[in-house]
Amino acid sequence: MDHVFPVFDQILNRREKEEMLGQRGSALWLTGLSGSGKTTLARQTEKELSAQGFLTQVLDGDNIRTGINSNLGFGKEDRQENIRRIAEVTKLFVQCGIVTMNSFISPSQEMRDMAKAIIGPDDFLEVFVDAPLEVCEQRDVKGLYKKARAGQIPNFTGISAPYESPLKPDIHVHTGNLSVEDSVRHIIEVVMPRISFTGPGG
Ligand code: ADX
Repeated sequence: MDHVFPVFDQILNRREKEEMLGQRGSALWLTGLSGSGKTTLARQTEKELSAQGFLTQVLDGDNIRTGINSNLGFGKEDRQENIRRIAEVTKLFVQCGIVTMNSFISPSQEMRDMAKAIIGPDDFLEVFVDAPLEVCEQRDVKGLYKKARAGQIPNFTGISAPYESPLKPDIHVHTGNLSVEDSVRHIIEVVMPRISFTGPGG
């Protein structure tokens, strides 16, 4: 883009912000089918990390698809753009030293790889929230599977639009048979070394 200068004078750099907060910024990217438990895990992980003194931010459909991405639908291109914008927003949080929990279906490996490239591979953990379609459909928390089966929602992930399971997720939680507490514990075990601040130079 012409005449746009993306680097401003920084008062504090990332490292200094992380020192202030006493933590390291990182993005926890939860991917999975609708109803697999992404939002529940994001919120519970946030609760647990907050209790341990970490500053966190959940990004999910409630605050993104109703706001910055309210003009986007569920076709392939719009989903791609949804994830691209979310990744850019996430990057700003992470550069500020904040730990984000991102809860989006993000159905293709390509989209998740794009998010990882935007945020930075060192600051990105791919979390596969894995519940079988039958379980998600059985739960049908929002009643959307029923509507999708009835043909009332086009391009519904898992029914009439694809979901590609992550090939090599950093964290794999089987929410079909693991409790929320155990799932959160597992996530936090992996995340903790990444976000703990070990002091200047550490
Ligand atoms: S993504 O594919 O672009 O990553 P995102 O996570 O933002 O999707 O939104 C998914 C949520 O939107 C679902 O949990 C559901 O509540 C709602 N939704 C509405 N239409 C669809 C659809 N066609 N496919 C999947 N989810 C949909």
